[in-house]
Amino acid sequence: MGEATIEAYYLEDRTFPPSDEFRRNALVSDDALHKEAEADWEGFWAGQARELVTWFKDFDTVLEWDLPFAKWFIGGTLNVSYNCLDRHVEAGRGDKVAYHWEGEPGDTRTITYADLLDEVSRFANVLKSLGVQKGDRVAIYLPMIPELPVAMLACARIGAPHSVVFGGFSADALRGRIIDAEAKVLITADGGWRRGSAVPLKVSADEALEGTSTIEHVVVVRRTEEDVPFTEGRDRWYDELMRDADGDCPPEHMDAEDLLYLLYTSGTTAKPKGIMHTTGGYLTHAAFTHKYVFDLHPDTDVYWCGADIGWVTGHSYIVYGPLANGATSVIYEGSPDTPGKDRLWAIAEKYGVTILYTAPTAIRTFMKWGTEFPESHDLSKLRVLGSVGEPINPEAWVWYWQHIGGARCPVVDTWWQTETGGIMISPLPGVTTLKPGSATFPLPGIGAEVVDEQGNKIERGGGYLTLTRPWPGMLRGIYGDPERYKQTYWSRFEGRYFAGDGCKIDDDGYFWLLGRIDDVMNISGHRVSTTEVESALVDDQNVAEAAVVGAKDETTGQAIIAYVTLRGSVEPSDDRGEQLREHVAKKIGKFGRPKTIIFTDDLPKTRSGKIMRRLLKDVAEGRDLGDTTTLADPAVVDEIKKRAQQSPQED
Ligand code: WTA
Repeated sequence: MGEATIEAYYLEDRTFPPSDEFRRNALVSDDALHKEAEADWEGFWAGQARELVTWFKDFDTVLEWDLPFAKWFIGGTLNVSYNCLDRHVEAGRGDKVAYHWEGEPGDTRTITYADLLDEVSRFANVLKSLGVQKGDRVAIYLPMIPELPVAMLACARIGAPHSVVFGGFSADALRGRIIDAEAKVLITADGGWRRGSAVPLKVSADEALEGTSTIEHVVVVRRTEEDVPFTEGRDRWYDELMRDADGDCPPEHMDAEDLLYLLYTSGTTAKPKGIMHTTGGYLTHAAFTHKYVFDLHPDTDVYWCGADIGWVTGHSYIVYGPLANGATSVIYEGSPDTPGKDRLWAIAEKYGVTILYTAPTAIRTFMKWGTEFPESHDLSKLRVLGSVGEPINPEAWVWYWQHIGGARCPVVDTWWQTETGGIMISPLPGVTTLKPGSATFPLPGIGAEVVDEQGNKIERGGGYLTLTRPWPGMLRGIYGDPERYKQTYWSRFEGRYFAGDGCKIDDDGYFWLLGRIDDVMNISGHRVSTTEVESALVDDQNVAEAAVVGAKDETTGQAIIAYVTLRGSVEPSDDRGEQLREHVAKKIGKFGRPKTIIFTDDLPKTRSGKIMRRLLKDVAEGRDLGDTTTLADPAVVDEIKKRAQQSPQED
């Protein structure tokens, strides 16, 4: 058996069992699902696929596993848009609200399942009239408006895989993705609203199309009503096309393994990878996890996932999972501080949101802003809270639990990736005793283990997270590059999927995610994860957010440099820095004391909200900065460089 590869120091011993009241009403409140899945995981998934998904033709083989290539539910045919729309309408639930949509300026739309089916069918016919056929790729570059899920579902209806590109991406990023996917049609908008200004999407889209050769038509949704450049013949207005479109479009019968979509994820340097997700397995995984992880009661819950649909979280948990389950969801177009820092809480109150799913970076921002904003609204309908995207620091977890959830709602910390298609490691809220900061255990049917450098399983302690068996929502490959697929995910440890994340298992068998393995530091021979030092810093009541990196150091190999954002009105000072060092030493040990603490108002983040430690490391080591184009706000780095030069170091 392996030795711990990453040492684990941070000790968090608070526990939160589900309340009796929550258990009484929960879909699952014991380990029956876990047990059933362990006895026969393939049979378990087959059962879920038949229960949660409507098939035109049942499958005959559950799984064909030719490592690392999986096929699920072979022989089955289905249509994802039929599962998300028609079957609910046919069952008499056409009047049920699918989406409460709220635009940033305050305009709203209430869209029922029947409305959505009508709009999707008409747009599917529009796509056909533009020459899109089954198998053709369609690029989508839209803000968070209803036309975005409409476009995705219309593609799914006619069997044309979509490639959604997040609206915050640059023209260059869009161009690369269009070229790689050889997309035939691009769907975009004049613009979208963000912090009170119109973001000019069409201008970027036009720039992106220079140097591409496959796009035949551009469909443009009117959102901001700004004047935009328009290329006659190529460009068409969405509303004009829709006016004449027929509302009847029978769903294509798709094979379980037909491509549903591509979603590009960037590595740190190399060209983005087109992650491939197919139809039957993906939908099963999205629907199963959405139902059980959030304990969805579709008749009474109002569910809100705050991610952008341009990321995988939005694909699986705003569009496909919730609609397959017939849920009522909220979609919000804009920024959380427009017009005020209570915007999200105003929306949650207005629609009576019961389930909220957001990211640690957002939670830490709310902590920084202060409790008065959530306190000014009635959030008493909330009953389940979720977190995704990064390790959540225990203190941020507890803050979320207390100030958003009123010390009443279980917080499900969900670990997964674009590549996994759906949630993999997570509590079930009516079953699992929670520990703040831990994603707890693999979901029923999922095999996950932590291994050491050599690939030996570790029972307790820190190492690398791996997945030990195929799962229905898994990526089927990287578009056009099977070699890279094998190389990236399946070559490091034989027979295992390598996720790229560090993870520790505690004495009770709980999984604690430690961040990307590139974020492990080596301090005087101790392999310490940045996540643990960050959590120790955020544990201090004055700290809202912290990012830690290891910078080269002559004596200790690497030295810990901490970038710290203080809460609300707290002022930085040398004393405060010293006090924080002491706090970390107390929480995880003396060697964990940051050598330098740099106070900063903001941290550099990617557009999906992940802290870019690579840039902070460059700053700490005094290097010229590499590529900063994926940064949400490049100005943050300049500010941090200035602060870094002024910060005292500890000897
Ligand atoms: C990180 C987002 C800790 C992790 C769904 C993973 C997490 C990467 C968690 C995937 C979590 C996501 N705890 N880390 N609950 N959720 N991550 O592809 O490093 O945008 O590998 O998918 O985010 O990011 P992606």
